[in-house]
Parts: sequence; C-alpha cells; structure tokens
Amino acid sequence: LDNGLATTPPMGFNDWNAFGCNVSEQLIKDTADYFVSSGLKAAGYQYVNIDDCWMTHSRDAEGRLVPDPAKFPDGIKGTADYVHSLGLKLGIYEDAGTSTCAGYPGSLGHETTDAQSFADWGVDYLKYDNCNNNSDGTQADYVRRYTAMRDALKATGRPIVYSLCEWGVNQPWNWAGDVGNLWRTTGDISDNWSSLKSIIDANLPLASAAGPGHWNDPDMLEVGNGGMTDTEYRTHFSLWSMMNAPLLIGTDLRKASAATMDILLNKEVIALDQDSLGKQATVLSSSAAGDVIVKQLADGDRAVAFYNPSDQPQHLSTTAKAVGLPTSHTGYQARDLWQHTTSQTAGTLAATVPAHGTTLLRVSKAPNAASAPALLDTGITGL
Ligand code: DGJ
Repeated sequence: LDNGLATTPPMGFNDWNAFGCNVSEQLIKDTADYFVSSGLKAAGYQYVNIDDCWMTHSRDAEGRLVPDPAKFPDGIKGTADYVHSLGLKLGIYEDAGTSTCAGYPGSLGHETTDAQSFADWGVDYLKYDNCNNNSDGTQADYVRRYTAMRDALKATGRPIVYSLCEWGVNQPWNWAGDVGNLWRTTGDISDNWSSLKSIIDANLPLASAAGPGHWNDPDMLEVGNGGMTDTEYRTHFSLWSMMNAPLLIGTDLRKASAATMDILLNKEVIALDQDSLGKQATVLSSSAAGDVIVKQLADGDRAVAFYNPSDQPQHLSTTAKAVGLPTSHTGYQARDLWQHTTSQTAGTLAATVPAHGTTLLRVSKAPNAASAPALLDTGITGL
C-alpha cells in the first residue's frame, strides 16, 4: 500500500503469542520501557502492538468501541501517549467481521467510526483479522472488506500501518499490494518446529509479491517461547529476515533469556530484513540436504542462507557466482552472521549445518581483492 509507511518491514512486539487474551496497559507500558532499556529500540524495534481482547463487549451510545477499563485504565489514548513519550509507536487489533476471533465487537460496517477512534487515540498500526466475517468466500468479498478499512484509515489523515490478517485464505499476495502494507500468508504460527517449517515452505515462494510498503507476513515471532531449540529459533529469525517478514516479537520480554535477546538483537541479521532494496530472498537450489536461499542487498552484497530442515547435519554449498556476485572479483569475503566471523574465499561458499539449523552469510567482494579489468571478465580461463 503506497501510504508512505512500512518502507521496510515493521519491527516491534505483539502480545498474542505469549499472552493470548491477557493483554493490559501495564504489559504494553512495561514492554515499551523494556524496548528502551534493553537496546531493542536502538536496534530498530518500534511498534508495541495490542492484539485481541482489549475492548468491552459492547459499543457506547455513539456506536464507538470502548477499551476495557479494567485492562486499560487510561484507555488506548493514555497508553498511546505513554508509548509515544518513549519515541515508540502503538498498534491495535480489530476484525473485518461482526466480532473478533475472541468475540469482541468487530468493525464490519463500522469502519469509518472505528478508524476515526484509532486515529483519535493516536494509533499507528492496525492488524485487521478475519473471524466471523459473514463472507461468501469470494476474493471480491475479501477485497471489499479489507479495502473498506483501508479507505476509512486513509480518510482519517493519520499515518497508520495497515496489516491484513486474512491468513492467506484468498491469496492476498495476488491482490493486496495496494490494499495493505502487509498481509498474512498462512494460518497462525505455533511454537513448534513443524509449524515453523510449514510456514517457511508456504512463504518462501511468494517473493515476487513483496517490496517496500507491501510485504508478505508469515506471522509473528515465537523466539523465546520455549517450544523450540535456540538453533530452531535462529532458523526462525534468519528466515524471517531473509523473507522481509515483519519482526514482531511474541515473547514475554520481562522473562527473556540471554540467548533469546542475542537472537532478537542480532543487528547484522536485522540489517537483512531492513535492507532498503526490500527484495525478499528466493530459493537458489533445493535438495534433500536443504535449501540454498539468496537475498540481494542494496549495496550489491548477497545474503546466503544454508537452511537445513532435515533431522541430520548436512553439508550445503554454492558459489559466489551462483548467488549473483560479479565474477570479476578476484576474491570474496563471507561474514557468518551468527558466528560473527569473517572468512575469505576464492568463490566457494559452504557450511555444515546442524539439523533444523541455518548458516547465514553476508557475502561481498573481499576488501583487498581486485576487480579484474573488463577485458579479462569474459569467462575465458587459463589466462
Ligand atoms: C487470529 C490471528 O491470526 C491471531 O494472530 C490473533 O490475532 C488471534 N486471531 C486473536 O484472536
């Protein structure tokens, strides 16, 4: 959606994966505080997002949504003011149906009123769900319901990132490029390896739909929630960054381990996600040993992921030429973004990758390497 927002994938937090319906003003404020004190804000995390269950079960006399006063004593406005005072942004949740998935009032038919409430409260991000939608299931109906809220948000004049949560049901990658800033491509993630693996498989082929302002959304992060190993969580974070996914933390940051924070704060991996070119990675080769996945970066570097979804360690390899680097360079350097080591290579890129693991490299021209003159760059060997 060309609204000037989400020119790189949104980064932040959403409470749903770790807390379900137990959202509160206190949780949002604590999380915002922690963004600042932990360095997450400095690393680029910006949106603190409220999911389902923030409101009361009925609208007020004017038909407006009412924040649950027990959960949000200062309302959404008071919560937003606090989050803004820290230099962060606030997100909220609603549903393109008669009620949300958890049974609170939905926005279908109330788009104008609700968008205006969000704008009045200072909301910066809307996640728009798809439960109880009275739909005939057609793409036209999906486009109509999601476009109605897009237009209502636009009419408020407030910049609000618009996140479509229709779970990939009607292939939003084919129609949502000018409807939303991002769109879910799958059903809900859960905190286990088979869920992660199937979402990666579903989202990887959709690269051509993604770009600045319009991203595929393979759902929020489970990093830190305990159902996967740290190796699997590094695969999760690596692949999300390679696929230009939103990086929305979904764990209780107040209890996050050092290993969890190391993953979430890995600036070299985040830089792949936030690269200004905005090109989602594609699969270069795939075999029983795993996938070689390549992402082109704005400065000409290539990010290369050796992704091993198998249950044994695997050796994976490719070459600088195959990943698209100029063959005129006489040498390359490969930065391992998890090991934090740099090695030199004449062109071969290879790694032994643990089961369910990912080796993530940023490959560039070696600083001391010559670029061979154009005359020699002809593919002729043996000169
Ligand atoms: C379904 C969405 O896909 C989830 O991410 C979450 O927002 C729940 N609904 C909330 O009810």
